[in-house]
Amino acid sequence: MSEALNDLQRHAAALDSADAFAKHRDLFALDDADTVYLDGNSLGALPRHVPDRIADVVTRQWGELRIRSWDESGWWTAPERIGDRIAPLVGAAAGQVVVGDSTSVNVFKAVVGAARLSPESRDEILVDASTFPTDGYIAESAARMTGRRVVPVAPGDLRAALGPRTAVALVNHVDYRTGRRHDLPGLTAAAHEAGALAVWDLCHSAGALPVGLDAHDVDFAVGCTYKYLNGGPGSPAYLYVAERHQAAFDSPLPGWNSHSDPFGMTPGYAPADGAARGRVGTPDILSMLALEAALDVWDGVGVEDVREKSLALTDFFLECVDTYVPAGRVTSVTPAAHEERGSQVSLRCEDGADAGAVMRELIARGVVGDFRRPDVLRFGFTPLYVGFCDAERAARVLGEVLAGS
Ligand SMILES: Cc1ncc(COP(=O)(O)O)c(C=O)c1O
Repeated sequence: MSEALNDLQRHAAALDSADAFAKHRDLFALDDADTVYLDGNSLGALPRHVPDRIADVVTRQWGELRIRSWDESGWWTAPERIGDRIAPLVGAAAGQVVVGDSTSVNVFKAVVGAARLSPESRDEILVDASTFPTDGYIAESAARMTGRRVVPVAPGDLRAALGPRTAVALVNHVDYRTGRRHDLPGLTAAAHEAGALAVWDLCHSAGALPVGLDAHDVDFAVGCTYKYLNGGPGSPAYLYVAERHQAAFDSPLPGWNSHSDPFGMTPGYAPADGAARGRVGTPDILSMLALEAALDVWDGVGVEDVREKSLALTDFFLECVDTYVPAGRVTSVTPAAHEERGSQVSLRCEDGADAGAVMRELIARGVVGDFRRPDVLRFGFTPLYVGFCDAERAARVLGEVLAGS
């Protein structure tokens, strides 16, 4: 065991020293050397420069310029401007992504918007049955509003379930519980062949792997910014409406911010062109500008390189788990195949072990992941700031906890 331990530690150190993102870690406030942070798939770490930028927004833009900042500090145009910063990270050309509201609210806009683009004879909305719950709840309401019914389908059965009655398929790109990546190009093409539209939830993929929204003809997409995009707790989400759908997109939340002449204050609604049609009301400027600052860490970063490191990290972590964790104590529910894996590893506790208690003990020993009831430990690998020595240590401590030492 100690021989293997030394081998893995040496290997981890060699991988870290060859890591093109090694310096990127310094951009983040991760100074507690005795903590390994593997929960960036829930809340990304704080980029170091964000507090100063927010202090400027609060003290100068708000405190001194006050109302003038809507123009002079670019507050009014922030939703589209920041959308255009996120766009290349999800493979979208400019003008199709708008930032604002929560992911839940954007799921509502996207699903109702997509349903309203479909003929009424298409009366089914297919929803990934393993979806993050909010998507299912909201799709249900969207279906009621648009005279459809929700059909929950396991992602593996989606292709077969698509048909002449399908209006919309709402799918998660990466499953939040298992870390399984679904086939975005293939399922989008299959939806189109069936005459349906595809809405993708990118919460667990944007910032961790290439998405290719334009390249794969995705219709609508939504995602949060507080995970791999490090925007901060509750930072605003985004909505992608493919350019070809924008002119017909009929938002179910046509607030004054999405009016073509918002300051005309007319009683009648006339939708704005482009991504701005996805706006609703006054944007949450403090969160939005924290997100804008946080996105600076992506300058010069290629998502393909991020993906390469993510796969290397999760491969290495799985190898370390195999070595350190006593046989039979955990089973990976994250696919081994690279094309089916996101950027997290989920381990199911066996033998009736209490996953919550295991995670609490891991956190007490400086390894921060999270768990999902009833029995899944989740470890998120954020390539911009997680290293191979982190992965080795996390698996080693997990082995110690499960061995009761
Ligand atoms: C896949 C997925 N979809 C939707 C949500 C909900 O996002 P929000 O709370 O921003 O509405 C989450 C939150 O973690 C998520 O992981």
